[in-house]
Amino acid sequence: MLWMARAKPLNLRGFLIYKSLISADEQAEIVENIRAGLSQAPMFSPRTAWGKPMSVQMTSAGRFGWYSDSDGYRYEPKHPNGNDWPAIPASILRIWDEVSDVSRQPDCCLVNHYREKARMGLHQDNDEQDFDFPVVSISLGDDALFRIGGTDRKDKTESIWLSSGDVCVMGGGARLAYHGIDRIRFGTSTLLKNAGRINLTLRVVD
Ligand code: SIN
Ligand code: MN
Repeated sequence: MLWMARAKPLNLRGFLIYKSLISADEQAEIVENIRAGLSQAPMFSPRTAWGKPMSVQMTSAGRFGWYSDSDGYRYEPKHPNGNDWPAIPASILRIWDEVSDVSRQPDCCLVNHYREKARMGLHQDNDEQDFDFPVVSISLGDDALFRIGGTDRKDKTESIWLSSGDVCVMGGGARLAYHGIDRIRFGTSTLLKNAGRINLTLRVVD
């Protein structure tokens, strides 16, 4: 029987980074599938709990979408326009199955779109019920400088460039570690028509 060994990830303080895990064809398929959901659930710019608009644009797929406004960070069963979120495309669930080692499928695929000047401040992903499930992050498009720290905001940080097709698993001791995107290198990838970066994070919510 033909079988393929899973690529060995880099382990950066418990963040498992699979460089170039997703082929160019699969990346294009995923982008196409995400784009197909945008008429039902268009991108929007959420506000932080302090009322400041985020520089990334977001939407989601799955039973829940991540949302933020002056009432705080949370998951919502509907897009702000009242629509259900589209289903998580099979092309994306395949990546979860390949790297997650858990039997449950994710409830949310958060889609973050970074234009030239967008960034994401250091934060923890802690709006989910059960931290035994990992968060799986998929990078598409332009390179991004990913900063990772520890579980205390004051912990020392280090950075790594993430490129299109890279997959990062935040699980175990790294599940509640601080992380963020300092900047993107605009125009380093031809995957997206207008350059920029899409990051997908897959999460088990409830
Ligand atoms: C996130 O933490 O939600 C996004 C991380 C990334 O864009 O790589
Ligand atoms: Mn995050």
